[in-house]
Amino acid sequence: MCGVLRAADAGKKAVLMGWVNRRRDHGNLLFIDLRDRTGVTQIVFNTDRNRAIHEKAEGLRNEYVIAVIGTVKLRDANTINPNMPTGEVELVADELRILNESKLPPFLPSDTALTNEETRLKYRYIDLRREVMQFNIETRHKVAKAIRDYLSGEGFFEIETPFMTRSTPEGARDYLVPSRVQPGTFYALPQSPQMFKQILMISGFDKYFQIVRCFRDEDLRADRQPEFTQIDLEMSYPQPERVWEVVEGFLTAAFAAAGYDIKTPFPRMDYDEGIRLYGIDKPDLRLPPFTDVRECFSSENLQELAINPNLPVIAIHIPKVGELSRKERDDIKPMFHSKGGARVYEDFKRIGNKYPAAAEAIGKNVGAEAGDLIVLVAGSAQAGPQSPVSPHRKVTPQELAVYTSAGLLRLALAQKYAERHQCFQKGDFRFLWVTNFPMFEWDESERQWMAAHHPFTSPHEQDMKLLEEGVEALHDPLSPLSAVRALAYDVVLNGTELGSGSIRIHRQDVQSRIFRALGMTEEEAKARFGFFLEALEYGTPPHGGIALGLDRIVMILAGAESLREVIPFPKTARAVDLMVDAPTPVSEAQLRELGIAIRKTRE
Ligand code: AMO
Repeated sequence: MCGVLRAADAGKKAVLMGWVNRRRDHGNLLFIDLRDRTGVTQIVFNTDRNRAIHEKAEGLRNEYVIAVIGTVKLRDANTINPNMPTGEVELVADELRILNESKLPPFLPSDTALTNEETRLKYRYIDLRREVMQFNIETRHKVAKAIRDYLSGEGFFEIETPFMTRSTPEGARDYLVPSRVQPGTFYALPQSPQMFKQILMISGFDKYFQIVRCFRDEDLRADRQPEFTQIDLEMSYPQPERVWEVVEGFLTAAFAAAGYDIKTPFPRMDYDEGIRLYGIDKPDLRLPPFTDVRECFSSENLQELAINPNLPVIAIHIPKVGELSRKERDDIKPMFHSKGGARVYEDFKRIGNKYPAAAEAIGKNVGAEAGDLIVLVAGSAQAGPQSPVSPHRKVTPQELAVYTSAGLLRLALAQKYAERHQCFQKGDFRFLWVTNFPMFEWDESERQWMAAHHPFTSPHEQDMKLLEEGVEALHDPLSPLSAVRALAYDVVLNGTELGSGSIRIHRQDVQSRIFRALGMTEEEAKARFGFFLEALEYGTPPHGGIALGLDRIVMILAGAESLREVIPFPKTARAVDLMVDAPTPVSEAQLRELGIAIRKTRE
């Protein structure tokens, strides 16, 4: 292979095959960098040694596929390349065979400047030849293999579940597949194997896993693809801690396979605590928790600044940003919009001029130094009528507005100034379990409660009474349902949700109550999940599990900005595969066979 020859191989005969990565013509000497997935070796064609081969080599162009037989030679001291593993040697060619020519590609794998992403995706086979893409795909393979090996070693069976199935409960839109033999009916591609893996517990396969493709028709972002891969698992009889232990075990193996040691057990944080300390349900532990600096102001100060004294005042502290130019200030201004009763006081200097004692106390409180950026987020005293507060929630909606505004603004600022403050170091992996999520979320447009995770998640044993009371107040945002906690957990890495799971409901009566709380009549529940509800009645063991996004794990390990960098053949943000050009219209005949007619809709 092209990456293996070393000084110790000098004098040996070698055969190398690969792509012409680069070509340098020095008259009598012609150098080719020959590339395969293991690396690059310099080949020398020398007129003195073999004129005929040298002439043939002059016809070589970028990305030609060739085979070379030659002798390994140590390079002269002044031509050693310490940046290449093969940099001490070269292969002096005795024979050359051109295995295939290549058209000039629209960009070269060796180009350092990246071409636009559309071209990269259209010519993905060229793009995948680039060293960084080869590394990402290799990392993906190693991570998946380590996880498979670990789980198999722990007694989990990998079991396949169908892709042609019916709608699953994850809450996105389904991709549908029409049936030819039963015209007018459709399979749905699974959004996850959720119901099948629970059925496998009922079937006696008490430890299941699958590295499995899932399909969701949802709005796409850098960390969302329409088809993506889950590491999906389920176990019978576990406490949440047992599931966490298994996940920590396979993540340790996966990160070790990619060359990183991680520490377990991961820290744990209540959902409510995450909101209060980080303003988000997936805290990035590389950033410090919030401090409420309300006490640094006198009550007169707060009044003058139109700050609501009953709500937290969060000081966002970004170190080492330095003096911002006027233009830089103007650039970040749009980030400081006030929202939902939360108000942003971005000019800390001005506050400092007017209230020096308060500013000094705040600076001390957050440990600020000269050149650090401080932005305050507080509740506005002038906010309109406040929404009523559920007596059941620890964090009120008004507090939530302040915390979440501060959380999002801090993330945006931390990302913008990442290079300056250097909180986000390569290889710094901060994992976290977020636990005790609320069971339900209020949907204001539908005026009803929705499942925050999915409807098969078990509520906390201690909150069963709230659930019972809650089903009597279905259309009330202040219902006791607001306080029902779920036995649900997320694993978070550096502010990205890697995975989500829960202990499931294994009793039919509790399941029915949950469906009722979600506003489903018995008939509706039966129509959607009838087979599953019936299965629950045949001796279902208590069970629980989790699913992690493989693509997201590899994205973070590879230091990539988007899932597209770690998926061999990804889709664009408009869910298009630019290489094969999918989706496409199909022939009239195919549609007829499926009993489908296309109706033109107005733009
Ligand atoms: P959930 O819907 O939270 O849970 O998904 C689990 C994990 O899958 C990944 N993920 C995605 N990755 C890329 N693109 C997407 N569109 C996408 N959607 C989800 C995320 C996420 O954390 N059945 C439950 C799991 C369970 O309860 O066991 C489920 O699918 O990393």
